[in-house]
Amino acid sequence: MGLKVVIIGGGSSYTPEIVEGFILRHQTFPVSELVLVDIEEGEEKLDIVGNLALRMIKKANLPISLSWTLNRRKALVNANFVTTQIRVGGLDAREKDERIPLTHGVLGQETNGPGGIFKAFRTIPVLMEISKEMNEICPNAWLINFTNPAGIVTEALLKHGNHKKVIGVCNIPYNMKNSVAEMMNCSAKDVAIEFIGMNHFVFGRNVLVNGVNKTSEVLDKLLSKEIDYSPANIVALGWSDEFIKSLKLLPNPYHQYYFQTEEVLQKDLAAFKENGTRAEIVKEVEKELLNKYQDEELEVKPPELEKRGGAYYSDAACSLMNSIYTNKGDIQTINIQNHGAIPDLPSDSVIEVNAVITKDGPKPIAVGELPLSIKGIVQQMKAFEQLVIDAALSGDYLKAYQAMVMNPLVPSEKKAKVILDEMLDAHKNHLPQFSQMEGRGIE
Ligand code: G6P
Repeated sequence: MGLKVVIIGGGSSYTPEIVEGFILRHQTFPVSELVLVDIEEGEEKLDIVGNLALRMIKKANLPISLSWTLNRRKALVNANFVTTQIRVGGLDAREKDERIPLTHGVLGQETNGPGGIFKAFRTIPVLMEISKEMNEICPNAWLINFTNPAGIVTEALLKHGNHKKVIGVCNIPYNMKNSVAEMMNCSAKDVAIEFIGMNHFVFGRNVLVNGVNKTSEVLDKLLSKEIDYSPANIVALGWSDEFIKSLKLLPNPYHQYYFQTEEVLQKDLAAFKENGTRAEIVKEVEKELLNKYQDEELEVKPPELEKRGGAYYSDAACSLMNSIYTNKGDIQTINIQNHGAIPDLPSDSVIEVNAVITKDGPKPIAVGELPLSIKGIVQQMKAFEQLVIDAALSGDYLKAYQAMVMNPLVPSEKKAKVILDEMLDAHKNHLPQFSQMEGRGIE
């Protein structure tokens, strides 16, 4: 029987990247059937992206049968791998996630702070539905989730979903490893970084190049800005000597929201005043991309896709699927349940960690106790993530309030309520679980 992959959110402008990933790996990961699935609102985009994918496959002259559909249940029949790259409410919802906090002088970001909380609230129930369908229709398939906030969504699925073959993937550890390789003039295969923490809150420790410890050299290059592994959506402000030399860890680009909060807020407020939100910029980039995709002559992924922060996500995802399929036993960085790898975090919580990838799925490699320098904040962020999941699943107003208040980017409990209420109203069409609003108004 052939190898079937289903991409949920297939109309995304990122899709040509993952299609290219399948084309490049066809010898070791011979996809025979690829189905792109989307919802009615995304039908036009799905047609455009589907037709480009068709031309890409035709040019590569590979026996991959491609189709696209709005019928998710039908698409899932006989799937071996399912990927999820959805954005509930589209870029309009993202714009609200970014705009509303900023108008209250609070960081507005799609995966951090109030924006990340609301993205989780909108996304988790939909992913739960997909999990239920997969459990019923394709119980042996792996679900590879890149939908943000990827760590929180993956934890919700693994703890509360029906389908348990779930792995979360992000491009950040992948970018960090590749940048080190580029700087050291070697292949990414020769670089090993131990990753500790959670998605968009992960630190790198012990950087090995061909087995030799190069951590200090890499930390020095980070300080001198000779290495910058920030994705397109983040402008790195640079770290201070003291921060890097005392931690002796590689921060990820999202750490600037937590450790340079004031500076990032000022920068983001200025950018917001000048150019609007990142969502508005992305809308323009996407318009440009979709115009390009309609060019009948285009048969490859266009380089403009690199203007998106998520570029290269598909390399991480395709390598993961490839290693599961071939039972490779290599090490990749993924989001999976802790099971004691970090004893200071709950065993069933999801962490971003190196894992050995075989046909039975990933086995996390033990990290050990968290260094004292980061222990408190990592535990706080994990507790926050759990509050978000509880609120997203229960639709309980006070739980949502608690998640908002306990997020380190929300500076005041009064402001937390104002932002929460405004965002609940703004997103109400995508938050059926909060329709009762029990507890709202309690002072
Ligand atoms: C980074 C993150 C992704 C996120 C993306 C946003 O790469 O790791 O999780 O989706 O940035 O990029 P965008 O172009 O949508 O702002």
